[in-house]
Amino acid sequence: IIIIIIIIIIIIIIIIIIMAYSYSTSVIGIVIFYDALREWVAIESDSSNVLKRPDLHHMMEKAAQKLRLMGGMVELVDIGQQELPDGQTLALPKVVTAQFGSDPNKRTVCIYGHVDVQPAKMDDGWATDPYNLTDINGNLYGRGASDNKAPVLAWIHAVEAYQALHMELPVNVKFIIEGMEETGSNGLEDMIVAQRDIFFSDVDYIIISDCGWLSRRPALTYGTRGNCYFFAEVIEGPKQDLHSGVYGGTVIEPMTDLIGILDTLIDPNGKILIPGIREAVAPLSDEEWKMYQDIQFDLENYKNKIGVDQLMYNSKVDLLAHMWRYPTVSIHGIQGAFSDHGTKTVIPAKVVAKFSIRQVPNMDPAVVKKQVTDYLHLVFSKRKSPNKLKVTMVIGAKPWLADTQDPVFEAGKAAIKRVFNVDPDLIREGATIPIARTFQDVTGKSIIMMPIGGFDDGLHSQNEKMSRYNYIEGTKYFIAYLHEVSLIKKTSV
Ligand SMILES: *[C@@H]1O[C@H](CO)[C@@H](O)[C@H](O)[C@H]1NC(C)=O
Ligand SMILES: [Zn+2]
Repeated sequence: IIIIIIIIIIIIIIIIIIMAYSYSTSVIGIVIFYDALREWVAIESDSSNVLKRPDLHHMMEKAAQKLRLMGGMVELVDIGQQELPDGQTLALPKVVTAQFGSDPNKRTVCIYGHVDVQPAKMDDGWATDPYNLTDINGNLYGRGASDNKAPVLAWIHAVEAYQALHMELPVNVKFIIEGMEETGSNGLEDMIVAQRDIFFSDVDYIIISDCGWLSRRPALTYGTRGNCYFFAEVIEGPKQDLHSGVYGGTVIEPMTDLIGILDTLIDPNGKILIPGIREAVAPLSDEEWKMYQDIQFDLENYKNKIGVDQLMYNSKVDLLAHMWRYPTVSIHGIQGAFSDHGTKTVIPAKVVAKFSIRQVPNMDPAVVKKQVTDYLHLVFSKRKSPNKLKVTMVIGAKPWLADTQDPVFEAGKAAIKRVFNVDPDLIREGATIPIARTFQDVTGKSIIMMPIGGFDDGLHSQNEKMSRYNYIEGTKYFIAYLHEVSLIKKTSV
């Protein structure tokens, strides 16, 4: 009996030691993750502010250094200069590329991410210093925490985890990290084209983790909308602004013309009135409808989040479909219009409307440009105004759509199942992430979006955050994903 008791005591002691050890290593792991993110968030890598360009260069160097210290083959690729509105030029932040492993018998994944951020100031209404990562109830608040610094770090931690465990990476891993995403990825497309047969030649799959889940359920993203952005200018009216008391009633006002034509773009029910646009949209299939039906999404939460009592559609499927796979027109502003506080009795001489149309399969921006231009000129001509209309399309970004049956998505579903023990929602993104389509068109590789951001992370907004849970479980998910991708090879080759 004494021997049995001694054995039991020894077993208990061993169990306690094992538990204490695993607890301490996981705590150490978490501290390392947290410190890494804090250091990155502390750098004001705001790509839209030219005064912050040194910080942005520093950020790229820091990311490169981290990957170098891990033993990666790292390059800082010069992508040239940016021309500023005043004619000056400014060096673009270099693009960081890194490579871990080059075994031709393994799959190769390439992870895209960005480490530049949107502007942020305390004055904007932040509760904490946006560049001082602050943990409140398990949420890590800071500019760029979710978009896109923690997801980039989570991928880096995934590689570090294999290294720390002295396990060989099951796939070759490449990184491409840019610093101009928030202002339109200047210079990146040229770099991708130039690297197509070099850096991208052995890449099987490109992974983007630059968006969020739709709810608390993990999600894989298989599509994004594109965007065509237009300027409609009413010009050659009066040669200067006029006093409405003195001249009102005698001239045909450019603003009246402009409002008149803007009102013909879309009806109050959201129906786009420009001929040909709706006809181009891929029809909603039964499978798609069923998939939307199963997605976790709460209309009431959504209403609360944006602070409205009524939405354009009352059913989940209709709402998701219009958020992701139907086009929409949004009118953004009118340049030249009076917009200050108070009153001003002005007749603006020249006004420019800014509006955009979100693009979905199978719309083509070149066709949309013609449809919109022809239609607005037709509508304008019916007004018989002596003023002139000029329509220009300043952005023409295509939508992106992936095949959710592709092995790269099957691997994603399996990794989510393994870590979160649920099947992911397959979702689209209503916003435009042009880089996905660029990667697809230039490299011809399969692209997958694997977000780990929460649905309420507040990207581009005040109090952006990343939860500890998403950061840490997201890292585990990426580790599992690398493993799952390595299995694609065994079954399909
Ligand atoms: C960040 O915030 C913490 C907690 O409020 C504070 O102690 C620390 O001094 C701050 N760091 C910087 C660099 O402002
Ligand atoms: Zn982003």
